[in-house]
Amino acid sequence: MLEKHAVTNVPIHDLLSRRWSSRAFDAQRPVGREQLAVLLEAARWAPSCNGDEPWRYLIWDRGRDLGGFQKAFDCLSENNRKWVKNVPLLMLSCAGSVFGATGKPNRWTQHDTGAASVSMALQAVALGLMVHQMGGFDADKARAAFAIPAEYTPMAMIAVGYQTTPDILDDETKAKELRPRARKPVAECFFEGGWGNPVRI
Ligand SMILES: Cc1cc2nc3c(=O)[nH]c(=O)nc-3n(C[C@H](O)[C@H](O)[C@H](O)COP(=O)(O)O)c2cc1C
Repeated sequence: MLEKHAVTNVPIHDLLSRRWSSRAFDAQRPVGREQLAVLLEAARWAPSCNGDEPWRYLIWDRGRDLGGFQKAFDCLSENNRKWVKNVPLLMLSCAGSVFGATGKPNRWTQHDTGAASVSMALQAVALGLMVHQMGGFDADKARAAFAIPAEYTPMAMIAVGYQTTPDILDDETKAKELRPRARKPVAECFFEGGWGNPVRI
């Protein structure tokens, strides 16, 4: 199995350094209901503004609902379909737009939904599962296909399953799979005291 540990400036927790977004999924290995329950629980316990839990997830298990899975699959971009064809479980994260208690606008919902999805991705590492989020899908098509209410915004499709060898991938996708992981320098993204002042560590 291909591992792509983060090459970090200083050591970080193993769960964080081992998480990555593989495209090589094992089509023969479904995700059990117990594992799914653990993933959802991890997302559920993410922090959110005012404890509003503004995220909603749609879930399609290929082994249980092939029709629904296919409809979700059809919303994906062509590039994503090339590898998601092997994925056993798909999700779609959606972010609300208002606070549930007051109905007032909540501008943190997308932030919170991302936090829930990352919690899920890290839990997946602990379970030996792979989670790969995708923005490459037709949100309007998904909204229509699954009657997503107007007050929710489809954010990311999420592939879940077990990793397998990159050899199953087409050449272009395999090249992406093997590409080294990289990050911007710390100074480009982290400022101290004022905008643009690189943190000195
Ligand atoms: C919101 C979001 C959208 C993404 N969209 C896609 C996508 O459509 N297709 C894809 O193959 N990867 C997608 N990715 C995966 C990113 O390319 C990947 O997270 C990034 O390159 C960093 O790599 P790593 O996750 O392996 O650290 C997406 C990730 C996020 C968080």
